[in-house]
Amino acid sequence: MAQIGTDLQVAKKLLEAGNVIGIPTETVYGLAGNALNPDAVLKIFQVKNRPSFDPLIVHTDSIHKLDQLVTAFPEAALRLANAFWPGPLTLLLPKHDLVPDLVTAGLPTVAVRIPNHSLTSNLLRSLDFPLAAPSANPFGYISPTTAQHVADQLGAQIPYVLDGGPSNVGIESTIVGFENNKAVVFRLGGLALEQIEQLIGPVAVRTHSTSNPKAPGMLSSHYAPRKPLILLSAGESPDPDERAGALVFREPFGGLQNDYQLVLSPTGDPNEAAKNLFAYLRALDNLPIDIIYAEPLPNVGLGWAMNDRLRRASVEK
Ligand code: TXA
Ligand code: MG
Repeated sequence: MAQIGTDLQVAKKLLEAGNVIGIPTETVYGLAGNALNPDAVLKIFQVKNRPSFDPLIVHTDSIHKLDQLVTAFPEAALRLANAFWPGPLTLLLPKHDLVPDLVTAGLPTVAVRIPNHSLTSNLLRSLDFPLAAPSANPFGYISPTTAQHVADQLGAQIPYVLDGGPSNVGIESTIVGFENNKAVVFRLGGLALEQIEQLIGPVAVRTHSTSNPKAPGMLSSHYAPRKPLILLSAGESPDPDERAGALVFREPFGGLQNDYQLVLSPTGDPNEAAKNLFAYLRALDNLPIDIIYAEPLPNVGLGWAMNDRLRRASVEK
């Protein structure tokens, strides 16, 4: 069973020996291993039960260290990096040969990110290699936002989870790639679209799933609880039902038991809602109910990314 702890030396030693461990970030917890060691990377795929066609994000603590990971940094990418790193932003950049093909699933680009979490920044600073880390959940399930979430699901397969407290942002990073030096958003996430556009002007958003997704986080069935989740339309209420629960934004619905309804943000704050989103979905999944209703969030700030996750978690009505 994984030990949960805050010992950076233990984490460092395990990673240097080629193990994979849980690490905190401001978005969600990651399942981390040495990105430059193909055996460690392979372990990540195995522990997560993740298909090898789905590439990983490489994490580091300083923009200078990216010299060994990417071969070019378009102007728009640099502006975004300077403005939002460390933070919930992942950039897709041309891959350096040093990065194993397994990390990028054979793609010519590598996803890179400087996370904003003091414990993990200190860990990354102490290592002489970057960390490949997908979200630390079994493939297809809800991402973890506490060390306990990681231990609950992957604890039998990993030795250690570094505990950095609940993730502050609560939703995965926003993924941005570049086509002819123009930014394209491939995954909505913890950095709001409005903030990106304020800096570099309007950007294309291409997060729809296709048969050959560029970012498999775009797969339409993803981030899902085990129980069926029905995403309501704006203004729609569920029918009264004793065996139903609900994820709501500001206040519970009439007709469902209050105990089975989790309120994301009583004050209507999208950031607070994002922070609670995945923990509440897990909690609903563990309640004695048969079905989960979810209310869509207002499409502002992180509301876009949350609605995207709820859509992918949902079944057809
Ligand atoms: O916030 C996050 O991004 C978290 C924390 C741990 O950093 N990580 C995370 O990783 O969400 P993961 O593996 O669950 O999602 C990464 C997404 C996947 O959808 C993957 O397909 C996409 O990034 N991706 C990675 N490399 C890519 C590449 N070269 N081109 C396109 N998509 C890529
Ligand atoms: Mg994931």
